[in-house]
Amino acid sequence: MKVLAYYKNQTKHILVLDACEEEVALEDFFQEIAGVYTNLEIMFIESLILPVRIIEALVKLMEQYRQNTFKIYTTTEFLSHYLFELRIPNVQLHRASQMSPEKDAEDLIEFPEEKLRDLLMGIYQIYGYDFRNYQLENLKRTISQTMARQSMPDFDRFKKKILQDHEFFRCLFLNLSVNVTSFFRHPELFKVLREEVFPYLNSFPHLRIWSVGAASGEEAYSLAILLDELNMLEKSIIYATDFNSLVLQKAQNGLYALPLLRQAVENHQKSGESKQLEEYFHINPYYAQIRPFIKKKVVFFHHNLTSDTAFNEFHLIICKNVLIYFNSQLQESVVNLFKQSLHRNGFLVLGRSENLFYRQDFIKYKLGFNIFKFLNSSLE
Ligand SMILES: C[S@@+](CC[C@H](N)C(=O)[O-])C[C@H]1O[C@@H](n2cnc3c(N)ncnc32)[C@H](O)[C@@H]1O
Repeated sequence: MKVLAYYKNQTKHILVLDACEEEVALEDFFQEIAGVYTNLEIMFIESLILPVRIIEALVKLMEQYRQNTFKIYTTTEFLSHYLFELRIPNVQLHRASQMSPEKDAEDLIEFPEEKLRDLLMGIYQIYGYDFRNYQLENLKRTISQTMARQSMPDFDRFKKKILQDHEFFRCLFLNLSVNVTSFFRHPELFKVLREEVFPYLNSFPHLRIWSVGAASGEEAYSLAILLDELNMLEKSIIYATDFNSLVLQKAQNGLYALPLLRQAVENHQKSGESKQLEEYFHINPYYAQIRPFIKKKVVFFHHNLTSDTAFNEFHLIICKNVLIYFNSQLQESVVNLFKQSLHRNGFLVLGRSENLFYRQDFIKYKLGFNIFKFLNSSLE
């Protein structure tokens, strides 16, 4: 991050230049905002996400200045949207190349599968992300929606732009990595974890859990909350991984929009709560912030299921709503990765519409739920 500042017409202008996810040097920023000015304007140029300390500083400035004397400008849709979620008003200055996953494009553009495979190979060779074994139908839909939104019906032109323009690819990547999630999503499953799986795992002196495809962190924090309610948090550690660094930074921030919390309270109740969910958050008028004693038990980091290897042995792996995006070949290799990563009495938890077919090394633990117990035959 680079910070530039100047003073003009009674307005202090602060420009924060941030190419992407690089480590942030915050001190210059805090120095620049320290004074008292008639008007203050902060522009985040190319920033995609901000760390908690900056967000907290923005909230303080909003309270210190009146609405018309303090303004925030952003240049990326991702950051603008994130700040709005946290009730931090900002003006987004548009850039031509941005693509929004929210805007719905009606006309889908057709293109031959061969061309798609060519594009996926190019993406893999240039950016290292391997989408070649993702569900084709899903890929086709996302890519053609993106082409339509960009008014780029010519596939070859679109491909050229994706492979040459890193920023353009990042937008497509964000659309391809579907990050929908919520606290205690599928609460009935959390109820079974609470009542049947975690009590079983309580016989272990330490617990290691892996939340795979953790997106913005709600699933991993839900598990930590559940473990706290069962008095098992102290001896547990949750590793939460995803291949999307931006959502991981959101997860690391642990700040959530207030309407999300209302839905979370309902889900948490259905999961058989024993404490009030609000106890786990600092709530201010802008957002809910996950409390430090929960946060310190969740370690977020980048891990790509198509290219990275096993990194620990877990008592429980939860991978919900990720395998559905993969073809059967990739699903198979990911399940093998899980087998290498599971304790011999460990559990694998999948999403509602994900299953393990013809696998003798797992048994279904609970009818009606995709919770499997690992039978490690090589150790028997
Ligand atoms: C729909 S979200 C699921 C979130 C959460 N597990 C849940 O069920 O609420 C799918 C997540 O999988 C991640 N993902 C997709 N492909 C991946 C890969 N190859 N490696 C790691 N994460 C991946 C996406 O970035 C996204 O955050």
